[in-house]
Amino acid sequence: MRKYFIHTMGCQMNEYDSLRIASILEKMGFAPAETMEEGDYLIVNTCSVREKPQHKADSSIGRFKQIKKKRPDVKIGFCGCVAQQDGAKILKHSKYIDFVVGTDGLDRMEEVIACVENGQRMCDTQVNEGSLSIGSFRRSVNVSSFVTIMKGCDNFCSYCIVPYVRGREKSRTLGEITDEVKYLADNGAKEITLLGQNVNSYGKGLEISVSFPELINRVSDIEGIRRVRFVTSHPKDFSEELIDVIKSNEKVCEYLHLPLQAGSDRVLKAMNRKYTYDKYKDMVLRAKEAIPDIALSSDFIVGFPGETDEDFECTLNALREIEYDTIFAFAYSVRPGTAAEKLADDVPEQVKKMRLAKVLDLQKEIIARRSKAYEKTVVEVMVEGRGKKDEKQFSGRNRQNKVVNFSSEKELNTGDFVKVYVTQARPNSLYGKAVEGDQDV
Ligand code: SAH
Ligand code: SF4
Ligand code: F3S
Repeated sequence: MRKYFIHTMGCQMNEYDSLRIASILEKMGFAPAETMEEGDYLIVNTCSVREKPQHKADSSIGRFKQIKKKRPDVKIGFCGCVAQQDGAKILKHSKYIDFVVGTDGLDRMEEVIACVENGQRMCDTQVNEGSLSIGSFRRSVNVSSFVTIMKGCDNFCSYCIVPYVRGREKSRTLGEITDEVKYLADNGAKEITLLGQNVNSYGKGLEISVSFPELINRVSDIEGIRRVRFVTSHPKDFSEELIDVIKSNEKVCEYLHLPLQAGSDRVLKAMNRKYTYDKYKDMVLRAKEAIPDIALSSDFIVGFPGETDEDFECTLNALREIEYDTIFAFAYSVRPGTAAEKLADDVPEQVKKMRLAKVLDLQKEIIARRSKAYEKTVVEVMVEGRGKKDEKQFSGRNRQNKVVNFSSEKELNTGDFVKVYVTQARPNSLYGKAVEGDQDV
C-alpha cells in the first residue's frame, strides 16, 4: 500500500484541512506513513501569516527533495495558504514539486491527485464562488476535535494576509456542522472546538440564518459532547449574547481568545482593528464580571510600522490591566499585498526583538501569579493521555485550557472526566492528584 505524509504548519484551520487531505488520500487507497522517509506522497500544508512560517515551508520542501532524489517516484505536494498566495510560481520555482493546491482547492483534491498519478504537474488555486460546503469525512477522531464552521475573513486588518489567502467569510450550514459533530461524538469526541477566523460573524449569508451563540447551543446539545470551545472572536463583533452563552451553557468552557493586538489607539487605528483600547477593556471587564473564572487570551503584534516607545508602553499597560492567562506575541512581519505593506517598516529588528522580549517577560510574571491561584483548588480535567514526562501520570486540560498533569490511584481512560486537586502550579501547567471517588464528574 502506498503511503502519505503531511507536514502541517500554521493555525488549527490548517490542522483541520490536513485531516481532510488525509481523508481524501485514504479514500483513494493510501495509508498514513509513520515517517517522512517512508511516504510516497509528501505534502506540506503551509502558513503565510508571517515570514518565518513561510520559510518553514521551504525547509520542509528541502527535506522532501532529498527523499525524492533517492526515490524519484515520490510525489511532492504544496498546499495551504502559501500555495494560495504564490500559486503556479511554486511549480516554476522547483521542479521537484508535483502539485500545488490552494485553500479552496481541497474540494477538488481527488481530481488533482488523479492527474498527478498520470504524471501531470498540477496547480489549483481557484477561488470557489457560492456557499461553503464541507461534507462529512472519515477521520481518526480525538477526544478533543476541531470543526471548521466558517472560513475566510472580511476584516482586512492592515497587516494581515489571511483575507487574501482564505478569501471572503463563508459559513457552513448548521446541518453540515451538527452532522459532523454527531459523527465525531459517535466516534469518541467529547470536546469540540469550533473554528473560524472570525467566529462571531458566523451565519452571515446563510439561507437559514443562525447566530453564533445559537450554533454553540445546538452543538452542545449533541449527545456525548461535554465541552465546547471556539476560536477566534474579533473584539469588534463581540456580543452580550456570547457572554450569556458562556455563562449559561455549562458545556461552554470558560475560555476566551480575544486578540487585542496592541494597546495604543493610534496603532489600533493604523491596524484597522475598529475598536479602541477602552472599548476593548470595557468588553473584557463585562465578561469577567459575568464569568469570574473566565480565562482570557490574546494575540499581540509588536513593532507595527510607526509604533513608538509610548505606543509600546500602552501594550505593556494593557497586559498589566487585563491580566491574560495566555498570550501569543509576534514581531511585525510585512506581508505581500496587505495595506500595511505600503507603510515603512520603520521599527528596527533589534527594537522589535527587545519589545517582544519585554512583552513575554511581563506576561511570565503575570501568568506565574495567576497560575498560583489554582493551587489548593479542585479543577475539572478531561483526560487526554499519559503524562509526557512520567508514564505513571495522566495529562489533560481544565476548562480554562490549562494543562494539568496528575496522578490517579484508579486507572483512567482518554476522555474520562475527573476532578483534580491542584498541589502545585507552574506558569504553564498544573500538577495534582485525582480526587477519589469522583471519577465521573
Ligand atoms: N483571525 C485571527 C487570527 C489570525 S492570524 C484574529 O483575527 O485574531 C493570528 C495572529 O497572527 C494575529 O492575531 C496576529 O497577532 C498575528 N499576525 C497576523 N499577521 C501578522 C503579521 N503580518 N506580522 C506579525 N503578526 C501577525
Ligand atoms: Fe487577519 Fe484581522 Fe481577519 Fe484576524 S480579523 S484573520 S487578524 S484580517
Ligand atoms: Fe496561517 Fe493560513 Fe492559518 S496564513 S494562520 S494557516 S489561515
